Amino acid sequence: MSTGSRLEELRRLYEQALLGGGKEAIEAQHSRGKLTARERVELLVDPGSFLEVDMFVRHRATEFGMDKRWAWGDAVVTGLAKIDGRRAVVIAQDFTFMGGSLGEMHAAKIVKAMQFAMSQGVPIVFLNDSGGARIQEGVDSLKGYGDIFYMNVMASGVVPQIAAIMGPCAGGAVYSPALMDFVVMVKRTSFMFITGPRVVKAAIGEVVDEQQLGGPEVHAAKSGQADFVAEDDREAIAVIKKLLTYLPSNNMEDPPVVKTGDPPDREAPSLDGVVPEDPNAPYNMYEVISGVLDEGSFLEVKAQWARNAITGFGRLDGRTVCVVANQPNYLAGVLDIDSSDKIAEHVRFCDSFNTPILTFVDVPGYMPGTRQEHGGIIRHGAKVLYAYSEATVPKLTVIVRKAYGGAYIAMGSKHLGADFVVAWPTAEIAVMGPEGAAEIIWRRELEAVKDPQERAKLLEKFVEEYRSKFANPYIAASRGYVDSVIQPRDTRRVLARALEMLFTKREVRLWVPPKKHGLVPM
Ligand code: HXC
Repeated sequence: MSTGSRLEELRRLYEQALLGGGKEAIEAQHSRGKLTARERVELLVDPGSFLEVDMFVRHRATEFGMDKRWAWGDAVVTGLAKIDGRRAVVIAQDFTFMGGSLGEMHAAKIVKAMQFAMSQGVPIVFLNDSGGARIQEGVDSLKGYGDIFYMNVMASGVVPQIAAIMGPCAGGAVYSPALMDFVVMVKRTSFMFITGPRVVKAAIGEVVDEQQLGGPEVHAAKSGQADFVAEDDREAIAVIKKLLTYLPSNNMEDPPVVKTGDPPDREAPSLDGVVPEDPNAPYNMYEVISGVLDEGSFLEVKAQWARNAITGFGRLDGRTVCVVANQPNYLAGVLDIDSSDKIAEHVRFCDSFNTPILTFVDVPGYMPGTRQEHGGIIRHGAKVLYAYSEATVPKLTVIVRKAYGGAYIAMGSKHLGADFVVAWPTAEIAVMGPEGAAEIIWRRELEAVKDPQERAKLLEKFVEEYRSKFANPYIAASRGYVDSVIQPRDTRRVLARALEMLFTKREVRLWVPPKKHGLVPM
């Protein structure tokens, strides 16, 4: 073969490889409202920056007709690229060949890409669109998944891992996204479940469709598996790009500083009026968060799940902060099983990736009742204590209003190692709420009064007495559990200064004997 014809052949092979499963399959992909793997990669990465790896990998299975069908790249596009000028590893499954199903070589490509991410210290972005383990490749497919899960675990806490679900993600395949740090799901075209509708019907007689079983709405609001939901592929990619702007590339780096132009010493007078006069009236914690952070910088994570807690990222004087808050507008901001999991997970992510934690507290306690107790609120609530205690990044806490009992301790208190705790004058730091406390400590006096109206009046008097004695920030401040009591309008200014003073903090904690790892309540 002449050199000319060899070059011609290579060009032809390239063109063939770019088509994945072929033109018809690409059209079918588009008709489903989905982009192809290559189109997604093109949208994600900076123009001309994609360094593709393993474009000419092919499967080697021969059984079940696999000797007759193959595609260059084996249904996955992998490589290194720049995203907004920063390097990342990109993995995009190609549904156009055998439904993006995962066999031995497909998996080997993914593992190789993840190894690049680990050795280079760059994030992994994995765009999922696959029918799961390639049935024809049997146990080799399962081995492939095992290898990927293992790499997900090895990469955990080393480089950020972001999964997008842009089509099917079924069976054991769900466990790679589940082991990653963030999951973005695309409306209508994506779903995630362990067992699909047909198996569900056969096994337990339940009739349910794919979207009801594991669509984005379900995972965003009910299971908490999805961190973000996007309208379509384009929006999903935009979300990934935005999220990356808050994150360091690996656990040895600090998050990027982005100049926002919002002066750190800006007063926020609107904050003075956020907390209502009535201590039991709800208000919207988003107003507090947005009043403190650099304008427009808040990116919420898991916005629809466990809405009594708010988690996300923001910027304060351009520095990334991890935001954790109670939401008095929803279930009074109580800590329950789901909100505890949500907070603990976010705190652990931020601690792994050197991101200071900013906590806004208004919490009446842990959720009472048999549903929560039987569901394991003790174990789940313990995760919050564990996560905050273990976190060695700068921890800044604002006690806005209620900070009662165990939940006060859990929500970034001084006692779990917070570096800087401020309280608003509206803060109520106490063992329990005034109503409950008064009923207990003045029980005898109350029982002695037989007339119900008289008793209610007396209770009101005791509640007031308790509130004025205990439900304020000054006792905690007098012990140094609160570093300062500040006006709401000054919160942004004070926190920005505190962050400037504290952002270099590393590993300042009590000495602990060497151990393999701690035992997080699971
Ligand atoms: C081999 C597969 C496949 C698979 C899909 N295909 N899934 N081939 N192994 N797992 C092929 C189809 O045969 C078809 O090939 C092409 O991909 C497109 O699939 P369609 O069914 O035509 O597309 P659609 O109607 O959109 O349905 C997509 C789908 C469905 C929902 C993904 O194909 C499906 O239910 N597949 C099986 C999903 C599943 O149960 N996976 C779990 C496997 S077990 P042709 O030749 O027509 O182009 C597993 C365990 C992993 O993953 C354990 C790890 C620990």
